[in-house]
Amino acid sequence: MQVSPLASLPFFLLFLSPSLLSPHSPHRSSLIALRSSPPVPFLNTPLLPMAEKTYPGDGIQVRYGPRRCIHFAACVRGLPGVFDPDRRPWIVPAGADADAVARVVTRCPTGALHYERTDGGPGETTPAVNTVRVAMDGPLYVRGDVTVETPEGFVVLEDTRVALCRCGRSSRKPFCDNSHRSTDDSEGFIDAGSLGTCTPKEAEGEGTALRVELRPNGPLLFRGPITITGADGNQVTTAKVSLCRCGASANKPFCDGSHRNVGFEAPTPEAAPVPPA
Ligand code: SF4
Ligand code: FES
Repeated sequence: MQVSPLASLPFFLLFLSPSLLSPHSPHRSSLIALRSSPPVPFLNTPLLPMAEKTYPGDGIQVRYGPRRCIHFAACVRGLPGVFDPDRRPWIVPAGADADAVARVVTRCPTGALHYERTDGGPGETTPAVNTVRVAMDGPLYVRGDVTVETPEGFVVLEDTRVALCRCGRSSRKPFCDNSHRSTDDSEGFIDAGSLGTCTPKEAEGEGTALRVELRPNGPLLFRGPITITGADGNQVTTAKVSLCRCGASANKPFCDGSHRNVGFEAPTPEAAPVPPA
C-alpha cells in the first residue's frame, strides 16, 4: 500500500519545538512551515529549516544561509575583517564590535545573513514600511514584514529581507540565485529596472504585513502595503500588485500576462528538488 507523505505530517508537527514556531524564534526566517490546514494534494519536501551555519562571536552570533547568498558582497565591503570569503571560517564576528556586526548583517539584501545578540543588545527589527527595490538587470529586493507562501497556504519563508527572482532563470525560485548574470554560455537578463505602468490599489485593512503569493507558473502576487522603487528612482505605493517573475513582461516590473505566452514554469518550492547548499 502506498502511504501518502501527508500521512506522517501531524506526527512530524508534534515534534516541532514550540519555540521554533514562535514568531520570535531565531529560525523563523528560514522555517518552511504550515500556516493553516490547507487542502494540499502532496508535499515532497519535509518541513525543515533551510541549511544555515552559525558563527559565534563576542556578544553576537551570525547565521549564514548559503542558498540565499548571491555574493552581493555588502558584508565584505562593510566589514572585511569579519566577512572574508578567502578565509576559513569566512565569518569571524569577533573581528568587530557587536553593534557594527549587527549593522552590516542587516545590509545583506537577500536575508542570507542574520544575527542574534548574546550580550542583551538590540535584535533585528522589522522595517516599519514594506519596500521592493527593482534592481537594474537583477532581482527584486524586498524588505519588511514579509511572508512568501504558496497558493495553498504553505509558508515558504518569513523574513525581513529577501531577493526574489524576476528574470525567470533561477534554479532556486522564488529566490534569486544570480542566474540573471551573463555567463560564457548565456546572455544576462537585461532590464533597466524602471517602473512600468501600475494602477495603485487602496489598502483594505489596517494590517502592515506583506504576503507574497507564488502564483503557479505566474507572477508574484503582493498583498499588503508596499512601496516599489524602480532603478530610475520612481516610486509607487500600493496594497496589491502582481510583479513579473518570468522576465517576459513588456510592463516590468509588473506582470502583463506574458508568462502564458512564453510558457513560464515555476514549480512550487515543495515540489522542486532542493539544490545542494
Ligand atoms: S551581503 Fe548577503 S548576499 Fe551579499 S555576499 Fe554577504 S551574505 Fe551574501
Ligand atoms: S510573470 Fe512575467 S508577465 Fe506575468
